[in-house]
Amino acid sequence: MQGIHPDLERVLFTEDQLRARVSEIGAAITNDYAGKDLVVVSILRGAAVYMADLVRKIDLPLEMDFMAISSYGKAAKSSGIVRIQKDLTTDISGRHVLIAEDIIDSGLTLRYLLDNLESRKPASLSIAALLRKDIPGQPDLPCKYVGFECPDEFVVGYGMDYAEHYRNLPYIGVLRSSVVVDAS
Ligand code: IMP
Ligand code: MG
Repeated sequence: MQGIHPDLERVLFTEDQLRARVSEIGAAITNDYAGKDLVVVSILRGAAVYMADLVRKIDLPLEMDFMAISSYGKAAKSSGIVRIQKDLTTDISGRHVLIAEDIIDSGLTLRYLLDNLESRKPASLSIAALLRKDIPGQPDLPCKYVGFECPDEFVVGYGMDYAEHYRNLPYIGVLRSSVVVDAS
């Protein structure tokens, strides 16, 4: 492997750790969803890399679909009020929906999205999050699978970005504070 990207302070999860954990989640999903009509939904763009790896570790027939959402306003912190930019193509009513999400921070985006998807009457609606930050006051979320607990720091790589950079890093790490523009 080449050295760590110079903009990163440290690596949190290596490529090997991610591969191993995603395989475990895929195996658990294979076990839990056998015989069910499964739709795996990912939220663009952060969860695309994780989704691509995860579905290849699920040994079941499944459908993949994507949503794109944007938060209102420019604040770095999630407001929880989101606009759907690209909706699902699939009708999910009566089907088992699993949302592959890159990271749960405040949890507000996902809470909003779940309410929206719930109204379409899926047979079940659960989340397979790769990372979860331990944030006080996070809303209740049906997180059936969590890859890793994540420290409350801004992370990039494996699909996650800072100002649209670093999504293609094969590992997850913490940015140097000198790289982060303080918007506060
Ligand atoms: P939430 O609504 O605060 O849970 O934020 C949801 C979205 O913000 C996640 O799905 C990510 O796309 C993005 N996000 C939250 N924390 C980070 C981070 O540390 N790095 C990169 N993106 C993040
Ligand atoms: Mg996301």
